[in-house]
Amino acid sequence: MNRSSMPPQLLRLVVLTLLVIGTYAVARVVLTPATFGHYGHYRGAALVEAASRPQVFAGAKACDECHSETSELVANDRHKGISCEACHGPGRTHSRNPDIMPVKLNDQLCLRCHVAEVARPAKQRQIQVWDHFPGDKCVECHVAHQPNKSK
Ligand code: HEC
Ligand code: HEC
Ligand code: HEC
Ligand code: HEC
Repeated sequence: MNRSSMPPQLLRLVVLTLLVIGTYAVARVVLTPATFGHYGHYRGAALVEAASRPQVFAGAKACDECHSETSELVANDRHKGISCEACHGPGRTHSRNPDIMPVKLNDQLCLRCHVAEVARPAKQRQIQVWDHFPGDKCVECHVAHQPNKSK
């Protein structure tokens, strides 16, 4: 088939397709960050950026040094495996300078893991707040570090 005999609507379609592909190819080169793909399907420079952020967590072992009694209580009850900082928040500043106290905790803390939600596995202990929570603080009846105990 000779080019001039290509129907104009087909020609427009071909030109449009080439334009779309061309725009995509140019945009891909222009918009892809320089270090993308250096190590994998992500921006290589992101590793350096993430590593340069200040650390805020002290790590699971850091608290044992000064709070070994608490560590022992937690390790021997149902909250074992939950890191101190999962409840108390980032503790690096406090670990380095105990004069700076960790943030105070409130009842929302317990509900984060224990409020009944259908999406949670049934074996995870859950409570219906309206049914269970009579308006006191959770820790007025429960011992946070030893949830098997009650006060
Ligand atoms: C260098 C020692 C040291 C380290 C490490 C340390 N603490 Fe402490 N912490 C203290 C001292 C001292 C106090 C004040 C006396 C007390 O309550 O035992 C304290 C108090 C606390 C309190 C009570 C705060 C309050 O308002 O009453 C919490 C909670 C706490 N630490 C959590 C942690 C956690 C979590 C870690 C690990 C990330 C940690 N600590 C690491 C020394 C330390
Ligand atoms: C399940 C959440 C949770 C975990 C895990 C947890 N704590 Fe606590 N912690 C609390 C709550 C809530 C309080 C406040 C208790 C209260 O007011 O009766 C508390 C209180 C404290 C206190 C103040 C003194 C006391 O004993 O009441 C210290 C110190 C402390 N925690 C250290 C730690 C350390 C160290 C770890 C890790 C070994 C840890 N906690 C793990 C929830 C937790
Ligand atoms: C980070 C998640 C998390 C937080 C926060 C948390 N818990 Fe738990 N809790 C668990 C896990 C995990 C278990 C053990 C598995 C289970 O039985 O659900 C547990 C178990 C329990 C149990 C059952 C103990 C038994 O007899 O078997 C009670 C009661 C409890 N927690 C109370 C509390 C209270 C009160 C707080 C707040 C101070 C709290 N939890 C905060 C995760 C959490
Ligand atoms: C007035 C006392 C009281 C208060 C306040 C209280 N609880 Fe309880 N909780 C109990 C008692 C008693 C049990 C054990 C009997 C039961 O399973 O109902 C229990 C059991 C639980 C269990 C285990 C449920 C299961 O299926 O085995 C969880 C989880 C729990 N409480 C979380 C909380 C949380 C989170 C709060 C705060 C929002 C809270 N409780 C406040 C008295 C209390």
